[in-house]
Amino acid sequence: MLQLDQVSVRFGGLTAVNAVSLNVGTQDVVGLVGPNGAGKTTLFNAISGLADTSSGRILFDGVDMLRRPMYQRARMGLGRTFQIPQPLHELTVRENLIVAQRFGTGSVDPHKVDEILAFTSLDGKGERMASSALALTELKALEVAKALATNPRLLLLDEVLAGLETSGKRRFMTMLKDLHQRFGVGILIIEHDIETISKLCQRVVVLNFGKLIADGTPEAVFSDPKVIESYTGAEHA
Ligand SMILES: Nc1ncnc2c1ncn2[C@@H]1O[C@H](COP(=O)(O)OP(=O)(O)OP(=O)(O)O)[C@@H](O)[C@H]1O
Ligand SMILES: [Mg+2]
Repeated sequence: MLQLDQVSVRFGGLTAVNAVSLNVGTQDVVGLVGPNGAGKTTLFNAISGLADTSSGRILFDGVDMLRRPMYQRARMGLGRTFQIPQPLHELTVRENLIVAQRFGTGSVDPHKVDEILAFTSLDGKGERMASSALALTELKALEVAKALATNPRLLLLDEVLAGLETSGKRRFMTMLKDLHQRFGVGILIIEHDIETISKLCQRVVVLNFGKLIADGTPEAVFSDPKVIESYTGAEHA
């Protein structure tokens, strides 16, 4: 279980994440939504160790994460993807997974790498350079594959479905459901599309100007006037 207790992240005068308290179980699939600039990615950065918190506590399975470097958080089972895919371009797809596996587990398991390549529909692409013209779907699949290679129990997915066309999105969603159901991986996913979130998640949390303003079922959250206003307000800004 991931537990955030009054977590804040400041950049100079800007409070990007403002006293957020949130629990996510390793059996949950939770959507994280909110307008552009709401602090969603910054929250992921705080959890994974890429952004310093200015106050609050972050616990994973009861262990204080805050003083732990990124690789230790990964080795405890916290995996993540990046909003902009960040493969190591000068390495092959397979080598990218090996680097991620070593980072997240401390060792290399070639058999597991093959399994992940197949699971993410990247089999046959393992020997391609990551810099070679991978299509967006493949880049996103590689982003998920790298996160899986770290052997997570809870996956933080930052807009992995954004920009995919309908069939790619459908395949990706099936893969995420499989991940959850077959491999028991918990998921916290940032995604703008309300229909996608409603299909995938039993629970949604909403950030607006760094604050958590709603937490509940998709039906309850997306009909909450506060949430609707946060989106229309952002459009008018
Ligand atoms: N490294 C940084 N330095 C200064 N400000 C930052 C930094 N990273 C993010 N911010 C600011 O923090 C706020 C939250 O940004 P963040 O990227 O977390 O939003 P987001 O909810 O992920 O938005 P989007 O939906 O567009 O991805 C924004 O105002 C952003 O400009
Ligand atoms: Mg973001």
